[in-house]
Amino acid sequence: MQETAKLIIDGKEYLLPVIEGTEGDKAIDIRSLRQNTGYITFDPGFGNTGTCRSAITYMDGEKGILRYRGIPIEQLAEHSTFVETAFLLITGQLPTREELTRTSVHLNDFSPLHENMKAFYQNYPPKAHPMGILSAMVNAMRSYYPELTDIEEEMNKTYLRLISKIRTMAAMAYRISLGERVVYPRPDLCYCSNFLNMMFDKVVVPYKIDPDLVRALNVFWILHADHEQNCSTTAVRVVGSGKVNIYATISAGISALWGPLHGGANQAVVNMLEEIQKNGMTIEDCIAKAKDRENPFKLMGFGHRVYKTYDPRAKIMKKMCDIVLSKIKRNDPLLNIAQKLEEVALNDSFFVEKHLYPNVDFYSGIMMRALGIPTNMFTVMFAIGRLPGWIAQWKEDVTDPETKIARPRQVYTGNFQRDYIPMKQRG
Ligand code: CMC
Repeated sequence: MQETAKLIIDGKEYLLPVIEGTEGDKAIDIRSLRQNTGYITFDPGFGNTGTCRSAITYMDGEKGILRYRGIPIEQLAEHSTFVETAFLLITGQLPTREELTRTSVHLNDFSPLHENMKAFYQNYPPKAHPMGILSAMVNAMRSYYPELTDIEEEMNKTYLRLISKIRTMAAMAYRISLGERVVYPRPDLCYCSNFLNMMFDKVVVPYKIDPDLVRALNVFWILHADHEQNCSTTAVRVVGSGKVNIYATISAGISALWGPLHGGANQAVVNMLEEIQKNGMTIEDCIAKAKDRENPFKLMGFGHRVYKTYDPRAKIMKKMCDIVLSKIKRNDPLLNIAQKLEEVALNDSFFVEKHLYPNVDFYSGIMMRALGIPTNMFTVMFAIGRLPGWIAQWKEDVTDPETKIARPRQVYTGNFQRDYIPMKQRG
């Protein structure tokens, strides 16, 4: 029998259907609410609102579980590559050997950028943020590579074109911002090695590819590849619901990710740790500032809308930081500050009671620094990783018969009707 929830308004009862997910999560289906009762629900930030059924990513914020297409993040981080995980997210299945080879061939074929697109970079001011450049470039791709939405095979190529070119565009933005020559993608290198080579290869000192650092980058991108209905993914679904093209949709996701409460937090964490280091602020002062309700300062890299325990991605990221730092034989003082900050926060009643734990961004910046990635590229790195997730979510959304154009309601709190007053009477 269909489970229902009973709602009583002014003594009148309404039965609302209950929807249940694979893992037992339940939702009250309120689609008929306004029509039947005249009421809407009020949920700023959508903390209690499900906007879709999704078979891509499962999270349990209380237990600290994250799975892509059913596979635990820990297993993917240990055994998979970023390209294989991207395939899994977008198609729903792990690739066969032949499918993975074909995917790699396409990624290689699509990696160079249209020569005319390079001209865009020259016209940005030197301090332009790479996230702004990236979102504009992805939007511009539509003019160069229009997608053929009604041919599945062509759309599959469009997804790979995006995944391949975003990496080239990101590395190019970095090189041009330094006034350095552009390094082109090499067909003999895999996705992650190619990126590192495009970023760091020099004529005088050719970049030496280190398999351990390549592995670290694979893990970094796997950990960021999807996170169900977060801010940028919701932006992707909302923008996509208007049936705009995929490039404009992904570009909107990149813009949403840029914010310091979302993907920009990795950059904000390192800025915060550097501030502590430079200004000699004590860990205790920093914690006190974060607890002060009069002060807008927050402990960046802490807290999460869904996770009320340790973010499983942060656990893996922390381990990877140690591996990478010992590999490059460097002791990053910011890691020591971060570890001390974590220890003090996790023993402080404010953080304990509010269930504020380190999230993925707390240690990711330190790992990127160890890989040589500059701070202003951190959020771009997150965007490259999140792209397969956005594509998978967009694809699911546009093929879901339940999808409607996103159009929330509001509770109006402005003036009652009033008359226009001509200027001469207004004084
Ligand atoms: N430092 C200090 N206090 C905090 C923090 C923090 N980092 N995060 C939350 N709180 C407090 C907040 O002030 C509020 O207190 P009160 O109940 O007294 O009003 C309470 O905890 C609940 O927080 P919230 O802001 O209502 O929670 P939210 O679910 O709306 O926000 C968040 C989640 C991630 C935006 C928030 O925790 C935050 O701003 N964290 C810092 C930024 C950050 O690290 N963002 C990266 C998120 S993970 C990457 C991603 O997936 O995007």
